[in-house]
Amino acid sequence: MMCIYHLLKLVNRLAKIKVGVIGVGNCASALVQGVEYYRDIDDEGECVGLRHLYVGRYHPRDIEFVCAFDVTTEKVGKDLSEAIFAEPNNTVKFVDVPKLDVEVLKGPVLDGISEYAKGIVKVDSSPEVDVAQSLKESGAEIVINLLPSGAPKASFRYAEESLKAGCAFINATPTFIASDDSWAERYAEAGLPIVGDDLTDQVGATFLHKVLLETLNKRGVRVYQTYQLDVGGGTESADTLERSWEAKRKIKTESVMSVLPYRAEVVAGSTDFVEFLKNGRDSYFWLEGLYFGGVPLRMDIRLSTVDAPNGGSILLDAIRGVKIALERKDVGHILSISAYAFKHPKKILPLLEADNLFEKYTGTD
Ligand SMILES: NC(=O)c1ccc[n+]([C@@H]2O[C@H](COP(=O)([O-])OP(=O)(O)OC[C@H]3O[C@@H](n4cnc5c(N)ncnc54)[C@H](O)[C@@H]3O)[C@@H](O)[C@H]2O)c1
Repeated sequence: MMCIYHLLKLVNRLAKIKVGVIGVGNCASALVQGVEYYRDIDDEGECVGLRHLYVGRYHPRDIEFVCAFDVTTEKVGKDLSEAIFAEPNNTVKFVDVPKLDVEVLKGPVLDGISEYAKGIVKVDSSPEVDVAQSLKESGAEIVINLLPSGAPKASFRYAEESLKAGCAFINATPTFIASDDSWAERYAEAGLPIVGDDLTDQVGATFLHKVLLETLNKRGVRVYQTYQLDVGGGTESADTLERSWEAKRKIKTESVMSVLPYRAEVVAGSTDFVEFLKNGRDSYFWLEGLYFGGVPLRMDIRLSTVDAPNGGSILLDAIRGVKIALERKDVGHILSISAYAFKHPKKILPLLEADNLFEKYTGTD
């Protein structure tokens, strides 16, 4: 006979949110590890590093990865639990992940692989699968796009396949999809929610820069010049430098500028790739302003993080938020989720307002 403890564990493992993953890179690694790491934690007090243990009634363990797509020999054909640790992924391993029985499928390559990545990985030679069909067969209800930032063609293609398969779409990349009216309308017409674009990190440079400027502004300081620039060593940092430097800089700068009620000279973006940092990221903040009596003030700060885990907490929130949108039959661009979890929603809201909107929408304290 099964004891109550094992019965509870079994119930815990009956997942309720079925997710398809596009791109099994560092970010996917942190996400999959995160579900495992928090699986057995029930006490908010023990829940270190997670913004919300529950979003609505959903716990991270309610998320089940049901299919995954990639294009490289190191990942295609492997179980997702192994592929998340395959090269060139170089983020931290913070938990063992048991076999998930999800084979990574070969997706369409298009512009997925950058020149830098071509030097370290090989594109798998097996034929690409029918993505929409595979999503349908897996029972996926939500697709999460974690492709490289410089791969807009591939991102558009997966957004199309997700639509065909009747799945909600989460776009963590900076390619404009969820914030684009025509995509949002197409998802709305299909009766599906879509959120994005460009994931906000838990303690990311954009977030910290905004908090810093917002706080200084509230305290009467007039910041007239500020920059935030960072260096990292993950494949995504190399890709940004090669293919999406300009787009990322535009998104970050606009997002940072949105917190100041006056015009200032603001620059925010990525600067370079430093391979030996692995998935580490060093972000440098500099600002000059005037405080009481017009006296000058200068700040110089460095934040050191590991990139992929920085996206984990907000991704878990976005997935659970989208599940709630599906249940409510809310369709098209969902601002209550996008404004909280992404740098480029349709409309950028003040940080606190975005937080409150998400928590109200999802019924989360
Ligand atoms: N904290 C974060 O990690 C964070 C924050 C904000 C935004 N993002 C965004 O998330 C995305 C993923 O970041 P990452 O660090 O995991 O990148 P990554 O380079 O580590 O992973 C990308 C993965 O996509 C795969 N891929 C490439 N082309 C493909 C295709 N056509 N089909 C299927 N798979 C393909 C690659 O092989 C790789 O496994 C990026 O767009 C990044 O801008 C991440």
